[in-house]
Amino acid sequence: MGHSADPLSCVFELISCIQVNKRSRLGVLIRKPIPMASYMIRKAKPEDCVDIVGFIKELAEYQCMLDQVDMTPAKLEADAFCTEPFVNLLVAVCSKSNQTVGYSSFSYTYGSWKGRTVYMDDLYVSPQHRGAGLGTSLMQAVAKSAVERGCNRMNWIVLSWNTRPKELYARMGADNLSEKEGWQSISLFQDNLELFADKLGANPKILFDL
Ligand SMILES: CC(C)(COP(=O)(O)OP(=O)(O)OC[C@H]1O[C@@H](n2cnc3c(N)ncnc32)[C@H](O)[C@@H]1OP(=O)(O)O)[C@@H](O)C(=O)NCCC(=O)NCCS
Repeated sequence: MGHSADPLSCVFELISCIQVNKRSRLGVLIRKPIPMASYMIRKAKPEDCVDIVGFIKELAEYQCMLDQVDMTPAKLEADAFCTEPFVNLLVAVCSKSNQTVGYSSFSYTYGSWKGRTVYMDDLYVSPQHRGAGLGTSLMQAVAKSAVERGCNRMNWIVLSWNTRPKELYARMGADNLSEKEGWQSISLFQDNLELFADKLGANPKILFDL
């Protein structure tokens, strides 16, 4: 059966080619439309900092440590979007609602044994969107960036009672070094950090040229 040559029939043919993934009479190869993805993971923009700080607080609340959070959107924006960022931020966005539903934060560090290392500080997906693969995908995105920057190691910490994520990390192939090698996490927080730093030079036998 011959084809009619009017422009409208060409349009209909183009549309039917989209459905069946074939070459149209106009010689254009048209692929089947990709089904709309439910979520998008992307680098954060400065305007995402308000949502991210909301999630930082939700995560801290889940960890029963909300009283320790001093972060504000302005502080996060200043640290993430400066010339040499202190932190990299990824967000997961729901395609249907255009709402931000999760995030991960990470930064680059260095280990004297293995060299370039990525440290993932936070991983959070809002409760209604869990179980859809976002947590895994956010971690894969961090891992991909790290591999592209030549890192050979990804570090993060998890609370001992947070068993479901611990199981997820084990399934991914991650080692729990507290259990395996007995490492414990040590921090010097602001007041003691400043006190300690102020003692530089207190030992007369040691000079500094920093
Ligand atoms: C951990 C977390 C980021 C996982 O996000 P997610 O989008 O549900 O992750 P995925 O869909 O990729 O994987 C879900 C897997 O994690 C496990 N999981 C861990 N905690 C879960 C939770 N609260 N709800 C659902 N699944 C959870 C499930 O067993 C699931 O594995 P499965 O699909 O093989 O059954 C999310 O549960 C979360 O934000 N939890 C609270 C904060 C937290 O613990 N963050 C990690 C701190 S180290």
